[in-house]
Amino acid sequence: MNLATTYMGLALRNPLVASASPLSRTVDGVHRLADAGVGAVVLYSLFEEELAAEAERQSWIADAGSESFAESLSYFPSAAGEEPGPRRYLSLLERASAAVDIPVIASLNGVSPGGWTGYARAMQEAGAVAIELNIYYPPSDPRVPGRQVEQRHVDVLERVKSAVTVPVAVKLNPYFSSTGEMALRLDEAGADALVLFNRFAHLDIDPETLTVAPGLGLSRSAEARLPRTWIALLHRRLRASLAASTGVEGPEDVAKYLLAGADVVMTTSSLLRHGPAHAMVLLDGLHAWMQRRGFADLGELRGKLAVPYGVDEATHERAGYVAAMQTANSTMYGPW
Ligand SMILES: Cc1cc2nc3c(=O)[nH]c(=O)nc-3n(C[C@H](O)[C@H](O)[C@H](O)COP(=O)(O)O)c2cc1C
Repeated sequence: MNLATTYMGLALRNPLVASASPLSRTVDGVHRLADAGVGAVVLYSLFEEELAAEAERQSWIADAGSESFAESLSYFPSAAGEEPGPRRYLSLLERASAAVDIPVIASLNGVSPGGWTGYARAMQEAGAVAIELNIYYPPSDPRVPGRQVEQRHVDVLERVKSAVTVPVAVKLNPYFSSTGEMALRLDEAGADALVLFNRFAHLDIDPETLTVAPGLGLSRSAEARLPRTWIALLHRRLRASLAASTGVEGPEDVAKYLLAGADVVMTTSSLLRHGPAHAMVLLDGLHAWMQRRGFADLGELRGKLAVPYGVDEATHERAGYVAAMQTANSTMYGPW
């Protein structure tokens, strides 16, 4: 059985990708993920806050121009005498890429459009075969118009695309007025892949200690419904690859995403919950399911249950909603 696939032009031995997480903070961690069988690893994100701290120490760096950014970093020890975040990241990227024979994708997490290009270029120079942009921009200022939020995503993508030649993926959150149009705009702006979706850290409140704390938490399978819906809607409507992210717990979740039309399926929570070796469980389960259902390769099943191309998506969605509500209203009441 053949699980080989391509993702934004990269050849992958299978469609399971370890998404950005602390599991990839060391070369050993990346090795463990590769040994467990994943098709590719996305490194944890280099955060803009780390970039800003370093930029403050080395303000000249913004003018590095076409000079090798990675090289120029090595000329200057950090003020504290310790490895600064970006340099540590680039070193990990370089060593991890050399240590495993699967693609290692770098991840950049920023807020502002400025300052992205130098580090994207440095990531490419350090061996990243692709770069994932984790554009974490929750519009917490209630006066910011939605169009501005959308434009910011496009601007960041265009800047990075003009700075590197490796493929660039955009990791989105699901909170746009028209997520589909956002996806189309990013596709037109040159995104090589869209990762649907990222998860925001939402605030939690402890009523006993009367404190507020941001919480990330691990996902559950039920959360896969939203990204799966969008993947099914966008399948065959974009040039960019589609990566499913959120809510993969068991092999059936991987299968569902592929049937909806995902090119690759990412997971973090399940690997954090059960350990990197859980990738083997997911892949063995996918293999067994394909065998049971008589699928010889991914091409035979990918997008089989996507929204058919050419239908009126709005009518299709409305029909699904009405049917779901009718079923729920006639069955979901209890014996109480
Ligand atoms: C502990 C933890 C750390 C994460 N770190 C990153 C990160 O550095 N960059 C990023 O883009 N996403 C990060 N994520 C988000 C995951 O890559 C993933 O998109 C999200 O958890 C949803 O996938 P899941 O349901 O498989 O966990 C992190 C998630 C968790 C739980």
